Amino acid sequence: MTALSIRQARSGDAVWAAALMASSDPWITLGRGFEACHQACTWAGDVLEIAELEGERCGFVLVRPSGVAGAPYVKSIAVAPGFRSRGVGAALLGHVERTYAGRARHLFLCVSSFNDRARLFYERQGYAAVGAIKDFLIEGADEILMQKRLPAPDAAA
Ligand SMILES: CC(C)(COP(=O)(O)OP(=O)(O)OC[C@H]1O[C@@H](n2cnc3c(N)ncnc32)[C@H](O)[C@@H]1OP(=O)(O)O)[C@@H](O)C(=O)NCCC(=O)NCCS
Repeated sequence: MTALSIRQARSGDAVWAAALMASSDPWITLGRGFEACHQACTWAGDVLEIAELEGERCGFVLVRPSGVAGAPYVKSIAVAPGFRSRGVGAALLGHVERTYAGRARHLFLCVSSFNDRARLFYERQGYAAVGAIKDFLIEGADEILMQKRLPAPDAAA
């Protein structure tokens, strides 16, 4: 995927990312409509980054830099349906990991208990479940906290 690039969000990107979320699971099942997703994508201090393939937006990652006990937290990640299973999600996570390697020791994220494919995706990227928060967003579904150890400062490139 030589043509993939990842850049900071600019004007209009939060609306695009929120529309992608609101039209996709897990956010549909979680009852997060466009307004809630847009609020999440524009929260002060959070960092929204956009993946583009040949100039077309194809995915995003949203990070809260000190989201879990002072460690970075991947709040949301999504790839547009026509671009999935082509490595864009892995590239976005890898980008976040390189950004924080040497500055943070751990990276955290949550996955809904019904989102089996995303959980498998995270496990393949080296994340491990460290706990489950029962009925956290909706009744009957857990949010599973996952963690990955980042390289030590002297091992970071
Ligand atoms: C999860 C997701 C970000 C992965 O991005 P991606 O670019 O498809 O990932 P990669 O190509 O690097 O890896 C592919 C793997 O992602 C997972 N995946 C693919 N499509 C998926 C989907 N619709 N929903 C959830 N996971 C999916 C699978 O494990 C897939 O493996 P496979 O191709 O062997 O089936 C993307 O599929 C997506 O946007 N899913 C919907 C939103 C979501 O669940 N976000 C995570 C919220 S916690």
